[in-house]
Amino acid sequence: MPCRKLFRTMMCCGLLLAGEAAMGQNEQTCLLEDLDLAKMSIGWGSVQAGRSVDGNPLTIAGRVFPRGVGTHASSSMHIDLHGTAQVFHAWVGIDDEIAGAPAASVEFRVYADGIGAWRSGIMRAGQPAQQIRLDVSGVRRLILAVRPGSDGINYDHADWADAKFTYRGKRPVAVTPAVEPAVILTPRPPVTPRINGPRVFGVRPGSPLLFTIAATGARPMTFAAEDLPPGVTLDGATGRLRGTIAKAGTYRLRLSARNEHGAAERTLRVEVGERIALTPPMGWNSWNCFAHAVTADKIRAAADAMVSSGLANHGWSYINIDDFWQVCPDHEDTTLHGPGRAADGTIVPNPRFPDMAGLADYVHERGLKIGLYSSPGPRTCGGCLGSEGHEERDAATYAAWGFDYLTYDLCSYMHGMRDTADRAENIAPYRTMQAALRAQRRDIVYSLCQYGLADVSQWGGQVDGNCWRTTGDIVDTWGSMSGIGFSQAGLERYAEPGRWNDPDMLVVGQVGWGPDLHPTRLTPNEQYTHISLWSLLAAPLLLGCDLTALDEFTRSLLTNDEVLAVNQDPLGRQASRLRRDDVREVEVWARPLEDGTQAVGLFNLGEAAAEVEVFWSELGRSGRQTVRDLWRQKDLGAFERSFRASVPRHGVVLVRIGTPREQAETDRAKE
Ligand code: GLA
Repeated sequence: MPCRKLFRTMMCCGLLLAGEAAMGQNEQTCLLEDLDLAKMSIGWGSVQAGRSVDGNPLTIAGRVFPRGVGTHASSSMHIDLHGTAQVFHAWVGIDDEIAGAPAASVEFRVYADGIGAWRSGIMRAGQPAQQIRLDVSGVRRLILAVRPGSDGINYDHADWADAKFTYRGKRPVAVTPAVEPAVILTPRPPVTPRINGPRVFGVRPGSPLLFTIAATGARPMTFAAEDLPPGVTLDGATGRLRGTIAKAGTYRLRLSARNEHGAAERTLRVEVGERIALTPPMGWNSWNCFAHAVTADKIRAAADAMVSSGLANHGWSYINIDDFWQVCPDHEDTTLHGPGRAADGTIVPNPRFPDMAGLADYVHERGLKIGLYSSPGPRTCGGCLGSEGHEERDAATYAAWGFDYLTYDLCSYMHGMRDTADRAENIAPYRTMQAALRAQRRDIVYSLCQYGLADVSQWGGQVDGNCWRTTGDIVDTWGSMSGIGFSQAGLERYAEPGRWNDPDMLVVGQVGWGPDLHPTRLTPNEQYTHISLWSLLAAPLLLGCDLTALDEFTRSLLTNDEVLAVNQDPLGRQASRLRRDDVREVEVWARPLEDGTQAVGLFNLGEAAAEVEVFWSELGRSGRQTVRDLWRQKDLGAFERSFRASVPRHGVVLVRIGTPREQAETDRAKE
């Protein structure tokens, strides 16, 4: 749609009248909604012209605006003004459609040529619209941003109402910000063996154990283990530990890997007890790439690719089927039809999954583990059969098939609840499945998916949850990923080995939620931020991309053993936010590691490069401290008082601060 004219330009045979250039061209108005709104990034839903994000009339505190743009935090739009605009005008506020939602809070921000030019301050639901009338003369690039308040992005429906520019000459145009080159920072692993993956592993007494020693280095490679607990054997050619351990306790195994270039050793602590998933699960899930288009063939291909791509050598181990392995009676696709359950109530998968036990074997034969998905309600989110009324039988079936992981998604159960914020109502369905899983002689990681309702972090562990989603679904935009990731502050007190907050799956690589995939819309720096932040957060790392189509950059993001070691650190402490500078839009997050060092993320959420600094006093440290760049796997030297780095737009510098305890002891012994 063309821009509307405020005043008719005086034209003569299509040419401007003489003298006009000197006087300046006539002023025109361009509505924000007439720009290419596909260029606006949004944290949830889709950007709407003349409507709220949910498609209602734009309404702020009862005032209805016929024009404007409805969006959702985190959101941003880059607009080239070419120095020809005079005024940007808008009324901003939270749309009334989320009336009463306590977590709705946003800040509107406007940047002119990289510099903050206007901020609304935090605005909440019901607050009257604020007017902006900003002089933008001479400005070349304007950025309109909506940032979430500190309570995350939920309900952050934000309106740029009656938003428009006045300009003379060249019309404003929405642009895609320049994307930095995808620079690979992860060094290639050496040909000598290196043992990666978790250093601690939990298994219940008597449960079948499968643990594959993840190791990089040239093949062929052989593996050995000292101090194997009774009941466990090691296949020296594949590095797979199998068996069962009857007696609870702590076992320390000395693992080694050898090839023609050398050898590596590492201690693996096996905790035989009630807790499993002692480090966050790492693997793949079908949802963010295939969604309803998942098939058993795609699961087998994912398992093959997990091994052939080398990811398995870095500790990636789960292959999880999400929704759509069950029968979906109302789906238009007939390959999803079928009886659904046998006469005795046993679940019968849809015809795309004719042999679940065979599929589980296929995945296990590759040294990997396999997961599936269900709902406590009658239907899953995709409308397939859920487990309601069949929990015991379903858990027994999953165990008999040989499954290792269950994602249990509230979905249709939620529609029958009186109050989704009620804790007892939220706990009840998860307790039922907890009891059903406990009755199995198989360790099944229990992943709660109820989008963070009723403060799940506070009770997820009480129902044996190994992880619990803390947010709604992620999508592959900066708004979504950063909005979710940076709103996890405060939840760290609930994370510990076997109990993980889950800010949803990863959105790097080829994603798509269906048959058609596209490369992630996150820029390279945003992807570094994503993996670094999820590692600091001790989040489950579940890849949501097509593993058969991994490009070199994505592979490099997923195979940095020093970064992954932060995620898998045996201490299991989730990072806290040490500092959030709202004006400069930088944040510093840190987590303590088992070896006495700290992993620190220096993040820049702003629109231009920024210096970010962490002070030793914030980390409880003093004196000279060594700093290591984890992505580059490179020591940066020893620093007094603080470390500071220039961090690109939406990027991160991830460092480890301090000397690892073992190394410090060796250094002392040498002195
Ligand atoms: C919900 C979950 C997603 C996915 C879908 C499947 O939206 O949050 O992760 O499992 O259901 O339908």
